[in-house]
Order: sequence, then C-alpha cells, then structure tokens
Amino acid sequence: MKKIIYHKYGPPEVLKVAEVEMPEPAAGQILVKVEAAGINPVDYKIRNGSLKLIMPGRFPRTPGGEIAGTVHKSGSSSSSFNPGDRVFAMLGMPQGGYAQYVAVKEKLLCSIPAELSFEEAAAVPLAGLTALQSLRDKGKITEGMRVLVNGASGGVGSYAVQIAKVYRAHVTGVCSGRNLSFVQDLGADTVINYETEDFTKTGNQYDIVLDAVAKKGFMGCYNILKPRGVYVSTLPSMGLLLRQTLNPLFSRKAFAIISSSRAGDLAFLGRLIEEGKLKVHLERAYTLDEVVQSHQRMESGRVRGKLVLKVFTGQPEEKIPQSEGRVA
Ligand SMILES: NC(=O)c1ccc[n+]([C@@H]2O[C@H](COP(=O)([O-])OP(=O)(O)OC[C@H]3O[C@@H](n4cnc5c(N)ncnc54)[C@H](OP(=O)(O)O)[C@@H]3O)[C@@H](O)[C@H]2O)c1
Repeated sequence: MKKIIYHKYGPPEVLKVAEVEMPEPAAGQILVKVEAAGINPVDYKIRNGSLKLIMPGRFPRTPGGEIAGTVHKSGSSSSSFNPGDRVFAMLGMPQGGYAQYVAVKEKLLCSIPAELSFEEAAAVPLAGLTALQSLRDKGKITEGMRVLVNGASGGVGSYAVQIAKVYRAHVTGVCSGRNLSFVQDLGADTVINYETEDFTKTGNQYDIVLDAVAKKGFMGCYNILKPRGVYVSTLPSMGLLLRQTLNPLFSRKAFAIISSSRAGDLAFLGRLIEEGKLKVHLERAYTLDEVVQSHQRMESGRVRGKLVLKVFTGQPEEKIPQSEGRVA
C-alpha cells in the first residue's frame, strides 16, 4: 500500500510517497481503507520540527490527524462495524492518516453522514471537534451570547461560525476582505475585515472570543471580553496555559483548547450535517502525488475552509487483499 512518509524534519519536499506493508489491526482496532485524509496546520508544524519538544517521535513519520474511508477488517472477533461501512475519525497520536490503510481504535470511529463524500467527511473531524469543544466545553455557549471568531474563514473558524449559529448565538467573524462574503454565507451576523479594522477596537464586547489566529493573544482581547467573558485560543502558549491555571481567581477566563478525539462529538457534528445545519467547505482536494503542494498551500495560512488528500482516488488500481467476511 502507499503512504506518505518523511525521514527528517524539514520543508514540504521531505514528504515522499512510499510503498509499505499493510498494517495489521490490533485488538480493539479497525483497519480502515482510507479514501481521504484531512490536512491541518499541525501536520506541517510537526513536519517542520516546530513541535518536536511537545510531540517527539521516531522517523519515518506519516502526517495526518483525520481520515475518512471504509472498514476493511477488525482486529477483534466482534465489532459494531461491518466491512465496507463508511467511517471517519480524528486519530490520536502518532496520527499517520496520509496512508491507504490505517489501524484506528474502534472507539474513535463514527459513521459518515450519507450526504457527505469521503473528501468532505475527511475535512470534518479535527477542525470540527476543535470548534465544537472550544465553544461548548470552554465557552459554555448558550442562546443569545455574542461570539467573536477570529480566523473565521479557516478550517476551525468556518465550523465555529456555523456551530455558534446552531446554538443561536450572535456571531462576529473576523477575516480578510476577500473572505467577507464567504464568512457571511457561513451565517455570521457581522463580519470584520482585519485588513481595514482592528477587531479589538470596535467598542463591542463578547461573551466568547474564539481565537484561531492568536496574533493579539488573551491580553490583546481582554477589553473586548465581557466581565464574565471567555477567551479560547487554538494556539496554546506558556503564558496562556499559566493564565488558564489562574482562571478561578478571575471573572474573565482564558483557555487553550487541545481538541480531543471523541466519537460521540463527531456523531453530534454528523447529525448537524444531516440536518443541514453544518456544511463542509473544501478549498481543494489533492492527490497523494501532490502532497508537497498541499503542505505549501496549508502553510500559506490563507486556506478558505479545508484541504484534503485523496488517498485512493487518482491512484492506479492496486491488488488489495479482500477483508474476510463480516467483522461482527
Ligand atoms: N489546539 C488544537 O487542538 C488545535 C486544533 C486545530 C487547529 N489548531 C490551530 O489553530 C490554528 C487555526 O487552524 P485552522 O485549521 O483554522 O487554520 P487554517 O485553516 O490554516 O486558517 C487559515 C485561515 O486563517 C485566516 N487568517 C490568516 N491570518 C488571519 C488574521 N490575521 N486574522 C484573521 N484571519 C486570518 C485566513 O483567512 P484570510 O485569508 O482571510 O486571511 C484563512 O482562511 C492553527 O494554528 C492550528 O494549528 C489547534
């Protein structure tokens, strides 16, 4: 089978397509035939070594924190999934989603809503769960709250705007001029063009600031938080983590979100998709052979919505061993 590997930290060009043995699922795991894998900023941050102190690992490494595909076989004698079932998941460490087959803990897997293609499904887990867990678990979002999403046109932000609207919040999205109508179409009530206006100087205050850019940081956003407001950043820093430990002493709270892979939360996002309340916005799907370009684009910081890798599509047909009968 094919997978993307790299043998050292470095630029996108370290990523190579390799032929490797198929993995065997251990007990409690399902071997998933990966049709598409989501691409996220963390993939290039691990690849270029910027996270090596907190996410060390051995080489060769394979990027990819989220996948969508079909159940191939189970490592256990019983399973709630059958071969061919369409599934998606956010993977735990050490990730490895840019591969034609991945062994995934069964408890992380969730059925893909019928409406979604594999490419769309692969774009949901990591950014979608981050947005949901930031707003619901950290922000304690409720109806009528005023929510500001900084980076509203990106992977996390595009889900956050829509999820905040599901909770009937009033949403302000911050993005560049070229993305104003995109963010409005996501459902934002107000949009701020960061190229012409500083969102920290409008005089408005918010119950939740979800910051997926983190250029201003908690202190930069302090004055736009209501007295009991919550700041949630997707970019943990030492200062923010320290401030988070001091939250009980202050009315304004600060959190660094570390998203977690929960199939129950993914199922919740799936229901929103089925109900037409959450849409997936794909900027582009790349083939495995275009993986270098996909990381170059991700690193630009200008992606609108999400990028994915088509892991099987576009690849020459291979002889793949068939799975044996029912999984369950
Ligand atoms: N802690 C966690 O668990 C977790 C989980 C997911 C993501 N993250 C992190 O969160 C960050 C965002 O992730 P993502 O997937 O949303 O990234 P992304 O998709 O790469 O974000 C790109 C978007 O950011 C916007 N942007 C760039 N500069 C901006 C600025 N100054 N102000 C407002 N918007 C700006 C761009 O819009 P324009 O083109 O309009 O500028 C673009 O649409 C990344 O650093 C990622 O590593 C952390």
